[in-house]
Amino acid sequence: MNAPATVLHNPIVRSKLQFHLGKQVPRYWVENHPFRTRVFDALSMTFPDGERYFIESVRLFRDQITDPQLQTDVASFIRQEAEHGIAHERYNELLREQGMPVDRLLTQMKNRFKHLLKNESPELNLAITAASEHLTALMADCFYAYRETMEGVDPQMRALFAWHSIEEMEHRAVAFDVMDTVAQVDHRLRVRALVITSVLMSAFTLYRAHEMLKADGFGVVDRVKLFATGIPWLFGPGGILAPMGKPYLKWFKRGFHPNDTPPVHQYDVWVKVYEETGDPLKAGQAFWEAGYPGKPA
Ligand SMILES: [Fe+2]
Ligand SMILES: [Fe+2]
Repeated sequence: MNAPATVLHNPIVRSKLQFHLGKQVPRYWVENHPFRTRVFDALSMTFPDGERYFIESVRLFRDQITDPQLQTDVASFIRQEAEHGIAHERYNELLREQGMPVDRLLTQMKNRFKHLLKNESPELNLAITAASEHLTALMADCFYAYRETMEGVDPQMRALFAWHSIEEMEHRAVAFDVMDTVAQVDHRLRVRALVITSVLMSAFTLYRAHEMLKADGFGVVDRVKLFATGIPWLFGPGGILAPMGKPYLKWFKRGFHPNDTPPVHQYDVWVKVYEETGDPLKAGQAFWEAGYPGKPA
């Protein structure tokens, strides 16, 4: 008998999840590796302001939504993103305590989002949001489909990213549906938005990781070495983002819809354990353990 297909829920609002993001999280919590950790830190740092920008972009069209299900999903999307922002902001505190230039980097980022909202059309801002959601929706598959990918990662941080990945997958179609059915963004603008988003997200993540490594005290030569070995780990064949390749490209096809792709295979495990225990650490642990053995081929 075949296993029942995993059914993705509409976004479920879960609030006040407790993660222990204090000093017990090692400074280099990804495999005790400075580059790998600072790349994840750079990503984490982007979330609170990035998610506020996503919320703003969707809100610009909220009054025009007539479909009651989409209205409900937009409300849940906003609440999920707000919760993510709160959790990642707590982690920013820890980065500040480590002497990272969090406020300088966040000010630059806030100004960039402000500039986009002020100077670009609501349609482009919404399309950039939907494109960003396309990328974050792929985190669950990239990081958790195979156990080995997140093996050497601190369990608290692994659980934080697991919860965030689950909810990104649950709301992956919300901004897209507003863009497609309400703002009626055409295919060309949609394509442009993902290209812009991919370039900016990659460049700024690497820039922030670089600034943090500098603040860590790594000199120029060490930073060059860290980047030379780190870039293939990130973008190379067999790299951590490699599983994103095929689903990423689906965006460019006409008729694409995010929910045509099945959710990560062990999605139900996270949902069930969280429902039973209310403990995001247990849910994250079970979710990670239920990944396929080994790493992506
Ligand atoms: Fe999020
Ligand atoms: Fe999101």
